[in-house]
Amino acid sequence: MCGIVGYIGPRDATPVLLNGLKRLEYRGYDSAGVAVLTDGHIEVRRTAGKLSRLVELVDQTPLSGSPGIGHTRWATHGVPTARNAHPHLSANARVVVVHNGIVENFLELRDELTAEGVIFQSDTDTETIVQLVEKHQAAGLDLVEAARQTFQTIQGAHGIVLMSADEPDKIVCARIGNAGGVVIGLGQGENFIASDIPAIMEHTQQVIFLESHQMAIVTSSHVQIETMAGKSIQPKIHTISFDAAAAEKGEYQHFMQKEIHEQVRSLTDTLAGRVDFQAGRIRLPELKLTTELAQKIRKIYITACGTAAYAGMVGKILIEKIVRLPCELEIASEFRYSDPIVDENCVVLAISQSGETADTLAAMEEGRRKGAAIWSIVNAIGSQAMRVAQGSLSMQTGPEIGVASTKAFTAPLVDLYMLAVLLADLRGNLPDADRRALVSDLRLVPQLASRVLNTEPEIKKVARALKNVRDCLFLGRGINMPIAYEGALKLKEISYIHAEGYPAGEMKHGPIALIDRHMPVVCIAPQDPWHEKMLSQIQQVKARGGTVIAVATEGDELVASLADHVLWVPKCPWMLSPVVTVIPLQLMAYNIATLRGLDVDQPRNLAKSVTVE
Ligand code: G6P
Repeated sequence: MCGIVGYIGPRDATPVLLNGLKRLEYRGYDSAGVAVLTDGHIEVRRTAGKLSRLVELVDQTPLSGSPGIGHTRWATHGVPTARNAHPHLSANARVVVVHNGIVENFLELRDELTAEGVIFQSDTDTETIVQLVEKHQAAGLDLVEAARQTFQTIQGAHGIVLMSADEPDKIVCARIGNAGGVVIGLGQGENFIASDIPAIMEHTQQVIFLESHQMAIVTSSHVQIETMAGKSIQPKIHTISFDAAAAEKGEYQHFMQKEIHEQVRSLTDTLAGRVDFQAGRIRLPELKLTTELAQKIRKIYITACGTAAYAGMVGKILIEKIVRLPCELEIASEFRYSDPIVDENCVVLAISQSGETADTLAAMEEGRRKGAAIWSIVNAIGSQAMRVAQGSLSMQTGPEIGVASTKAFTAPLVDLYMLAVLLADLRGNLPDADRRALVSDLRLVPQLASRVLNTEPEIKKVARALKNVRDCLFLGRGINMPIAYEGALKLKEISYIHAEGYPAGEMKHGPIALIDRHMPVVCIAPQDPWHEKMLSQIQQVKARGGTVIAVATEGDELVASLADHVLWVPKCPWMLSPVVTVIPLQLMAYNIATLRGLDVDQPRNLAKSVTVE
């Protein structure tokens, strides 16, 4: 989704902006642009398509100066063309804006401005922002006040960055609602602005996150944070520990490939400091889970979108099994419209890689409004979902750049397992021996992941056999049913092959009609409590001429004798098996997509962080 970068200081802004935008490419976009203040006027370069085209344009017609702002756009209003790309200039070309979000009352504002004689240059909602600022400036307001008036007029959720040729010493930015973050990076005699930390990580680790309904006036030497009403705020300065190197591809061809292979490390880090193997106990102090709260909870709602929601589905099974507490997985975009039965004895637990997904944030708000305790499991440090929760577990994965989520799927599986053990322990309903056994099993996780990753050459062979299929069905049961969904999601996201995940027992109620020799069926059949049921499923697929690709436990000769291809996984305690069974499916999707020559890290139409409803 839209990426924003800004720079003010003694350097030439152009390379800082282009470099920052490059690091935000993973968010997904369809056009890009930069604006720089040069010799008292604003120069803009914009193109449709990839950032490399913008870089070419800047090479052909260079621009330099400071301050500057840049943007990668994910079209909502108006097709992705250079004309609709950000930055957008006001009519007199003295003010320029980049924006993330949707101006909900833009039609009304545009009509008003048009009636006043403003001629719009684009089809975007964003242009209303900059035209309004110009209008207020014409009435005598300075940039900050003109911006403030504008921010109070526009409806919806926004991240906005503005600069004006008439006040070259500042950039004004604002965050309104949950349309993605605005982060200000503090430098020495220079400052940076971005929608996400990776854009500025190479320059500084000291950052300020704008909260909703705050604006900032950023000069090269100072950052002033205010409420929309103009009240000054003392901001909290965060030190970000992400190593810039973690956002580089290194030896890998794609970020997704790197991130799949990083799972041994990310799973090791997920356990570090949280598991006391000797005492057989879990410690999650960030969650601020007291015995009193643990005993008060009557129900947990897990809420999330996309891949995170499938992790949540596994979490529901773990919590109900280990804690014996009712737990529902609610898709975040549905939750707030379903009038959920939530009260102060409930917990709403959000899972989000980015921590900025608009629907997930809205679901958390719905829970808060109804009095529930709010927790989150989040990867992006300092993101909104982390900040607004009462307790938040940080996924220990480092930045995830590939749009298709991988390491940020397996880390929360382990977080949810640990959370379930801790909760059951605090509620006093987990016998000592069971607790010790559950905790002890965790030590196996990184090594199990490593063993599956080593099977990539075999998985590649299966990928070769499947690379030209048109459809693919994924079946799983019990704790591996969500893995069928996630396996199908991975395949469709990056290879554009139509893929559906289904609870295996439901196959006979519909999908069975589709099975013939053209329909490969991926059956997730490790040795878990549903193994026998999966065997009979595999037989039913074979009986109808389907091709079976089985995910099976090493040594399972029965599955091997039935399936056309086997993706082997090591023997594993069933409650942790999703961590292991999903990895071959990630690798299979990745290899199929690369064999098809596709842009794995930035699949078409998808965004890494979806900050609109
Ligand atoms: C987008 C991404 C998915 C992700 C989902 C939820 O659709 O493409 O990979 O699972 O958003 O994102 P979150 O950041 O909340 O986990």
